[in-house]
Amino acid sequence: MFVRISDLRDHVDQEVTIQGWMYNKRGSGKIYFLQLRDGSGMTQGVVTEPELLEKAERLTIESACKVTGKVSKHPKQEDVFELQVTDIEIVSIPPEDYPISKKEHGPDFLLDNRHLWLRSGKQWAIQRVRDCIITAVYDYFHENGFIKIDTPIFTPNACEGATTLFELEYFDEGKVFLSQSGQLYLEAAIMSVGRAFDFGPVFRAEKSKTRKHLAEFWMMDAEAAYVEHEESMRIQENMVVFIIQRCLERCKKELEVLERDTEPLKKIKTPFKRMTYSEAIPFLQSNGSEIKFGDDLGAPDEELLTQDSEVPVFIHKWPKSIKPFYMKVDPENPELVLNNDLIGVEGAGEIIGGSQREDDYETLKAAIEHEGLAGPEYQWYLDLRKFGGVPHSGFGLGLERMVRWVTGIEHIRETIPFPRMMTRCRP
Ligand code: 4AD
Repeated sequence: MFVRISDLRDHVDQEVTIQGWMYNKRGSGKIYFLQLRDGSGMTQGVVTEPELLEKAERLTIESACKVTGKVSKHPKQEDVFELQVTDIEIVSIPPEDYPISKKEHGPDFLLDNRHLWLRSGKQWAIQRVRDCIITAVYDYFHENGFIKIDTPIFTPNACEGATTLFELEYFDEGKVFLSQSGQLYLEAAIMSVGRAFDFGPVFRAEKSKTRKHLAEFWMMDAEAAYVEHEESMRIQENMVVFIIQRCLERCKKELEVLERDTEPLKKIKTPFKRMTYSEAIPFLQSNGSEIKFGDDLGAPDEELLTQDSEVPVFIHKWPKSIKPFYMKVDPENPELVLNNDLIGVEGAGEIIGGSQREDDYETLKAAIEHEGLAGPEYQWYLDLRKFGGVPHSGFGLGLERMVRWVTGIEHIRETIPFPRMMTRCRP
């Protein structure tokens, strides 16, 4: 009977076969301990039968094999099971040594071998946490009245400023861009379905080489009609807590493999802290930052703002001058907009950007022109304010930033299967 390693617990004392790969091997001559993986988990196969020792001997790292054995529970470790091996079927043996070994490899070597590196224990765990976060986002939104709407990747519209656009020729239609965010299209969709989210790759020709920036990343945008600034922040914090709880429940093994201290994650509860941008600047200045009113936050500023907090911090109501055209002007101060960044703890940095959207036709039109984006391409977006316009808000969660925070991995390049950065677009 073929069984997945993750299901071994249901087969104690039975003889089963697992289909996978040999991750590692210890022993020699009279006994071999095979570390086996099949994608669902890892288990140890103990080989002592004389007629199997020769086959065990031939298995090298990343040999594919089907291993049959009797399942036993580890005498000391909780939820760990082993196989007393009774048969080995060799499926394939690599013709040369596997390039990734236990010794330290540099990041460039590992990234050049990303197609193989993905198999290592930590990378396996990261991808499983990523999948858990994606599923949690879908579940959270479906439980809260949002439906998934797919937004286009080719677009004539610049959502997040013209400086980070990837441009290409689109048949005879002229220049279009790769999407920076599905937001503008979601705004159209919610006037039909009320609440919507998207989840897809977005592109930023960002000339940053930080540990938090990718040129292609996955974003979840959410948008809701009749939701204003404060309620939008409540939706965001509830979603983040939901995601973290889900990972703590379902990714125990993965977080163990990653040696992630889960105590700080267990402390993530609502309400998150809220600080206006206007409060944040003097706070930062009095703590040694050289930031001035009207500057974006640097990584050290984000660190200062969150270092005394167990929960993420909303920095809201930023200066209009440094934010995109679509954000709603604060009725109490025309220099500010009703937006927020959400800064995660433990050095996570900005994980969400959101805002209430400008719903006044003339104000929005002027803001679009001010950003130098005027023209027919934005008329459809303005139409949304002409026909049944309502207050509405939304936000975007950077999936890889969230994965980086939950897994505690230092560099964002490991959070996505095949990272695209300023200096790398292969394999
Ligand atoms: O703050 P951003 O630029 O917001 C938007 O794009 C809005 N249109 C979203 C919306 O309101 N629907 O990006 C949202 C999030 C950031 O908070 C960050 O987590 C992530 O996307 N992000 C990046 N992640 C990786 N690499 C980059 N270059 C990123 N730029 C933004």
